[in-house]
Amino acid sequence: MDLKQHIRQVPDFPKPGILFYDISTLLAHPQAWQETVRQLVGAIGPEKPDILAGIESRGFLVAAPLALQLGLGFVMIRKQGKLPGATIPYTYDLEYGSDTIEMQEDAVKPGQRVVVLDDLLATGGTMRASVELLRKMGADVRGCACIIELAFLSGREKIDIPVHSLISFES
Ligand code: PRP
Ligand code: MG
Repeated sequence: MDLKQHIRQVPDFPKPGILFYDISTLLAHPQAWQETVRQLVGAIGPEKPDILAGIESRGFLVAAPLALQLGLGFVMIRKQGKLPGATIPYTYDLEYGSDTIEMQEDAVKPGQRVVVLDDLLATGGTMRASVELLRKMGADVRGCACIIELAFLSGREKIDIPVHSLISFES
């Protein structure tokens, strides 16, 4: 099955000149979504994670079914101010300004093997920050996985652990 044909490309969203890669059409197609989950399970299973981490918000859609398939729990990496109780933040630079993500302080235990999930790897800034936050918490981050990789943005060069992607756009 060609998963790429299930990704809708929307020009000029969210801003003029930006081409948006939309997973809505993939999620809405049961066979394509099942195949996506099957392929991601095959990609991350060998990393032998103890737990999965999903990146707000579309990464949650990816992490939840994989956690069920693999019989694992999953934890949330969220934008600042969304999680109750004590949290650990990580602030990273953007092109203009900065952003902060956080996790609940008891979300992962030191030494736990974690795989990080998102829908899409673009510049890699979000994925890299998530890996660094998990490391700050003492996790053993084994790898990252996403459905779509915008290879022309070279995001994987920012990540020093294996990055698994199912669909690559080269231009
Ligand atoms: C998008 C996408 C990834 C991130 C990739 O999320 O879902 O999380 O950007 O970009 P990067 O590799 O350049 O960091 P977005 O911020 O649009 O939020 P959402 O998932 O909540 O829709
Ligand atoms: Mg996102």
